[in-house]
Amino acid sequence: MPALGFGTLIPDLIDTRNATKAALEAGFRQFDSSERYRNEKEVGEAMQEIFKEGAIKREDVFIATKLWNNNHRPERVKPAFEASLKRLQLDYLDLYLIHTPFAFQPGDEQDPRDENGKVIYDDGVTLLDTWRALESLVDEGRCKAIGLSDVSLEKAKEIFVSARIKPAVVHVESHPYLPEWELLEFCNQNGVVFQAFAALGHSSEPRLLDDPVITSIAGKINKTPAQVLLAWAVQRGTALLTTSKTPSRIKENFDISTLPEDAMKEINEGIETRERFNAVVETGVPGFIPKGR
Ligand SMILES: NC(=O)c1ccc[n+]([C@@H]2O[C@H](COP(=O)([O-])OP(=O)(O)OC[C@H]3O[C@@H](n4cnc5c(N)ncnc54)[C@H](OP(=O)(O)O)[C@@H]3O)[C@@H](O)[C@H]2O)c1
Repeated sequence: MPALGFGTLIPDLIDTRNATKAALEAGFRQFDSSERYRNEKEVGEAMQEIFKEGAIKREDVFIATKLWNNNHRPERVKPAFEASLKRLQLDYLDLYLIHTPFAFQPGDEQDPRDENGKVIYDDGVTLLDTWRALESLVDEGRCKAIGLSDVSLEKAKEIFVSARIKPAVVHVESHPYLPEWELLEFCNQNGVVFQAFAALGHSSEPRLLDDPVITSIAGKINKTPAQVLLAWAVQRGTALLTTSKTPSRIKENFDISTLPEDAMKEINEGIETRERFNAVVETGVPGFIPKGR
């Protein structure tokens, strides 16, 4: 699995298509998508266009997508997986993740709500039931690896202990304001890839890209703050996901290099701000938390 990954959580469908192509052309070979993003079709079309040109083949690219909360019932897993593959125009996936540990009411509605606007959860299925259905996809050879997303250390351990096929990847929000050292240590000890999403802090407030520690290192080594943050993530042993709809930034984000050891130390020890930007881990409802500061 290439460490440097491109995420396709891009609301506009034309932007999704252009950004996916630009990311492949810039050198990204690891991609993340999700049925929840409702743009797998555009991601698939963009990839096919590039594959048809011939220089990059399907096998050169590590492609992941995720099962959404309304499809946790075991009998819904394979149809959801097949539907994602079809939209992505692929015949296998490199990685299939359970998007969140929260099961919503089974059905085609991705965001089921009651008359008071409250999410309708499904207490008739456990995360382990869903995990077993993902294990079957690996058995059938349609998916090379399976993993968990938006889980706590406790939840990751729970599945890890009971799983016949262990999670290959744990995908969570992580950056210098949310380093998740304990979870990273668990992953390292158990041969699990820790995959950090929102590696740049999603441009949310407080802006990680403007953190004085990051901007001062960037100035000293003649790199941009984004390049410093992405290099930090790779250098501490994680895979990562970053996203941009801007071609120049996509190129910039692929052009990273090793940070001096003292810069790693400065980020690890000099940054004290702690912030989670995405609240999905609390309820399963997606979304970055708007904070006007
Ligand atoms: N499992 C989950 O629940 C979950 C949740 C969230 C995200 N994810 C995954 O993780 C991926 C990455 O998350 P993210 O979108 O939060 O990533 P991010 O890279 O932290 O933030 C993306 C934001 O940073 C800006 N940006 C990108 N490169 C930049 C640069 N070089 N300089 C300045 N600004 C830059 C982008 O702006 P422009 O686009 O305007 O250039 C965009 O606003 C998603 O696409 C998705 O695949 C998963």
